[in-house]
Amino acid sequence: FLKVKVNKLANPFFVGMAIKASQLTNGSPYDVILKNEFSSISAEYEMKMDQISTASGVYNWAAADKIVAYGNANNINVHGHALVWHNAVPQWLKDFSGTDAEFAAEVKKYITDVVTHYAGKVKSWDVVNEAVDDSGAMRNTIFLQRMGPNYVKDCFQWAREAANAAGDTSLLLFYNDYATSANTAKQDKVFSLLDDLKAAKAIDGVGFQMHNTYLSPTKAQIEADLNKAVAKGLKIHVSELDIQVNQFNDISAFTNERRLAQKAKYKEMVQIYNALPAANKYALTIWGMRDNESWIPFSTELNHPGNDWPLLYDSNFAVKSSHTGFLEGL
Ligand code: XIL
Repeated sequence: FLKVKVNKLANPFFVGMAIKASQLTNGSPYDVILKNEFSSISAEYEMKMDQISTASGVYNWAAADKIVAYGNANNINVHGHALVWHNAVPQWLKDFSGTDAEFAAEVKKYITDVVTHYAGKVKSWDVVNEAVDDSGAMRNTIFLQRMGPNYVKDCFQWAREAANAAGDTSLLLFYNDYATSANTAKQDKVFSLLDDLKAAKAIDGVGFQMHNTYLSPTKAQIEADLNKAVAKGLKIHVSELDIQVNQFNDISAFTNERRLAQKAKYKEMVQIYNALPAANKYALTIWGMRDNESWIPFSTELNHPGNDWPLLYDSNFAVKSSHTGFLEGL
């Protein structure tokens, strides 16, 4: 089992899985696999702002509470994902007609209420997700427009204040983003943002999503990216790992060649992660359990042209070669 093998390492780390509340029924295949194999969970979408916040100061905690309680009851680490993300802004906040200062106050209230609600129950939060765009500029989101370029730092400080006020002084705060390893303009901007957050003593770690393919990024690119975070003394979360094999829709069924290439790439990622200094390790999280449920083919943003098989389990919950690759990387 993954979890067992990782826990035997000299410097273990959490092995995470993205899950949905509906999958947590006791005795279900997910439940059995989660408890055997994984030591951390992230909500795939049910802890995002558009799910929790139905109106100003009005919250729907049901699904998120179920996920957090499951982790707490089963000695599984809970990573909170994500407080602020441009793709999960509730309609009421998009339509908010107050002043910019009132908008910022709404965001502060949301962060404060959610961090307080889960204080002591959630080990870490992605405070801001994807604030940098692919050109290396601050992403032009409603948060940037309404709150200005310091909004990321403000959000981190509000999260910290809320945790401390609730008596949780060990909450880990992460900045999370994608595709930094092969895009140096984006990587540079993310690391300058991290410098600002470090200077403000507001951040503990960085999440590298790692929605990768069987070809890219290269091992050297990933290592260089993660080692920049090591040099800054940040904890590192490989936060949303999946490895596509059909980015260009050139295969109609999973081939043995791609199966082996994917296995090698999973192994490589685990080797890179495992080689990090103990102090920088946190968790390596896989973004979904079964291939047939992966977000990849359904993402309008990725505009993925066909089917794909990016995960560790097939549609029957059977382990794939990618799972063997993961084990071999340890
Ligand atoms: C995706 C989920 O997988 C989907 O189920 C949801 O509908 C949209 O979000 N980057 C992130 C994740 O940080 O939250 C996204 O997850 C994938 C891209």
